[in-house]
Amino acid sequence: MMNKIKVMTVFGTRPEAIKMAPLIKELENRDLIESIVCLTGQHREMLTQVLDTFKIKDDFNLNIMRPGQTVTTITTDVLSGMEKILCDVKPDIMLVHGDTSTSFAGALAAFYAGVRVGHVEAGLRTYDKYSPFPEEMNRQMTSRLADLHFAPTVSNKQNLLKENVTQNVFVTGNTVIDALSHTVKPDYCFADNTLAKIDFNKYKYILLTAHRRENLGAPLRQICTAVRKIAESNSDVRFIYPMHLNPLVRNTATEILGGLNNVILIDPVDVCDMHNLMQRCYMVMTDSGGLQEEAPALGKPVLVLRTETERPEAVAAGTVKIAGVDTNTIIEMANTLIRDKNAYDLQAAAVNPYGDGNASQRIANAILYYFGLGDKPKDFGD
Ligand code: UD1
Ligand code: UDP
Repeated sequence: MMNKIKVMTVFGTRPEAIKMAPLIKELENRDLIESIVCLTGQHREMLTQVLDTFKIKDDFNLNIMRPGQTVTTITTDVLSGMEKILCDVKPDIMLVHGDTSTSFAGALAAFYAGVRVGHVEAGLRTYDKYSPFPEEMNRQMTSRLADLHFAPTVSNKQNLLKENVTQNVFVTGNTVIDALSHTVKPDYCFADNTLAKIDFNKYKYILLTAHRRENLGAPLRQICTAVRKIAESNSDVRFIYPMHLNPLVRNTATEILGGLNNVILIDPVDVCDMHNLMQRCYMVMTDSGGLQEEAPALGKPVLVLRTETERPEAVAAGTVKIAGVDTNTIIEMANTLIRDKNAYDLQAAAVNPYGDGNASQRIANAILYYFGLGDKPKDFGD
């Protein structure tokens, strides 16, 4: 009998887990593939939530998370932790996702161990070295290390081609759209007690998230101040902010937004709650990458609380607008969406430039093709 292709998936944070989960399920279903899951544990509770939801069992966990971790400690812990695992398991290929320090350090560890690297969600760029920090350099450096590149969109592929990354680039769609088809249900009941009690028809519920490293400090204070003023001047609005577990995020958010009757601060919710919350809310304000892909697919207008985005497709389609981190600009743009029905309707058209729900299938097929065990998959959009 032929040996199976050993595919080791390595990830450590919430968004990587959400976007790798449908792919892991797909790999597990393939007869020609042995799927091995290795967690770095860059996140803990926020990672476990996702693994429980998708019923994913890890084979290895480096458990690196510590309070106040820095990009240096994450990188060195992953690099040294992966060395022995890669040496023992000897996978045929290792898959990393996107732009976290887990992804970059994982890819570097694989390169040092002589293991092929497949990069899921490849080719996103701002070309601003410091924004998002450190994600822009993490993904650029991961592209240099990778052997297979799974670009969600044609424009992501074009970024890679511009950088002379021309071999084994597949346009697959984003696996987050695969995940949405598992989670969003019309008759969904929320697991979170606070969400379960909400009548979403009563107010305009605005889903808020903010956590990026480059926003910590003054920009996050400006964002929260804007939210406070919007909440105080719009009695028909309720904000829901599932706060990231980083104390630097929570301290600022609770200091500025705590005690307001129309701002609901809650702990991170599981991904099923999150996607269904997004489905029921009026609009989204966020600095997250993943939410910029999910909300347009669900027909929700998004204001991005950053000065740039590596996801221009939904901006071009009109559903996502860059609000930046200036308090007055955020207030003005949010008030337009809250108070001007025409402006809202224009921005609320559902668009789905990021995938068709079959990204995981294309990635699994591309891996088999690379190892000479299948046909080349058609690109997403072809
Ligand atoms: C990381 C990624 C970022 C990604 C984000 C998704 C890097 C450098 N950053 O940023 O790209 O957008 O994850 O959320 O790779 N914490 C907990 N429990 C958890 C998770 C985090 O307590 O389950 C706390 C810890 O105190 C930890 C801190 O949050 O030290 C920061 O976590 P870290 O992974 O360093 O940064 P993120 O902002 O989450
Ligand atoms: N998410 C979640 N629960 C939350 C907040 C976010 O499940 O309380 C999901 C969200 O739907 C998206 C992903 O986490 O799929 C985004 O993660 P995050 O914002 O932490 O990271 P980013 O996408 O910015 O890298």
